[in-house]
Amino acid sequence: MRYVQMATVGLDGRPANRTVVFRGFLDDSNQLKFVTDARSQKVAEIHQLPWTAVCWYFANTREQFRLAGKLTLVGHQDSNSFLQSARAVTWQELSDAARTQFTWSDPGKPRVENQEFNQQPPDPLAPLPNFCLLLLNPDRVEHLELRGDPQNRRIYTYDGQLWAMQEVNP
Ligand SMILES: Cc1cc2nc3c(=O)[nH]c(=O)nc-3n(C[C@H](O)[C@H](O)[C@H](O)COP(=O)(O)O)c2cc1C
Repeated sequence: MRYVQMATVGLDGRPANRTVVFRGFLDDSNQLKFVTDARSQKVAEIHQLPWTAVCWYFANTREQFRLAGKLTLVGHQDSNSFLQSARAVTWQELSDAARTQFTWSDPGKPRVENQEFNQQPPDPLAPLPNFCLLLLNPDRVEHLELRGDPQNRRIYTYDGQLWAMQEVNP
């Protein structure tokens, strides 16, 4: 199940939420990878306030994970060479269909009717400038297991060095 809901704080202070695809972890780290378009509204929101809450439900095992933490945007001008190469690898791992979405007209702007739909997919090696890698560094994870009577609910918190776990009432 690769779809999660990712909330941010809108520019007007109201919550904003949308579905995104989980793209795996950044190497062996705790950081979750997502991709998005630099022109999208969420990018402006993350620039203003990098905090997120992600909610993930696994229907087969009836588990919910709520992850909170800080988002890092890795855009085409990011000077960190490690992150820049992670951005390129993530681009290379996308399907042609997913890469082609980054050639579409400005997301969220009034619909452009005469878009070029049959254009060639972009270069699979070199990310387009509006392609962003989005990393979530969680510092709080809440795990709810509906299975079991009573249910189990655990809160994991990271203090910058260690994770701690607290069981709480469901
Ligand atoms: C199943 C599904 C998967 C999606 N995956 C992504 C994704 O990985 N990245 C992304 O930016 N938007 C993805 N979207 C689109 C977003 O939900 C959203 O409509 C879009 O990013 C604009 O959001 P914003 O205006 O808050 O930036 C997906 C939508 C659906 C329904």
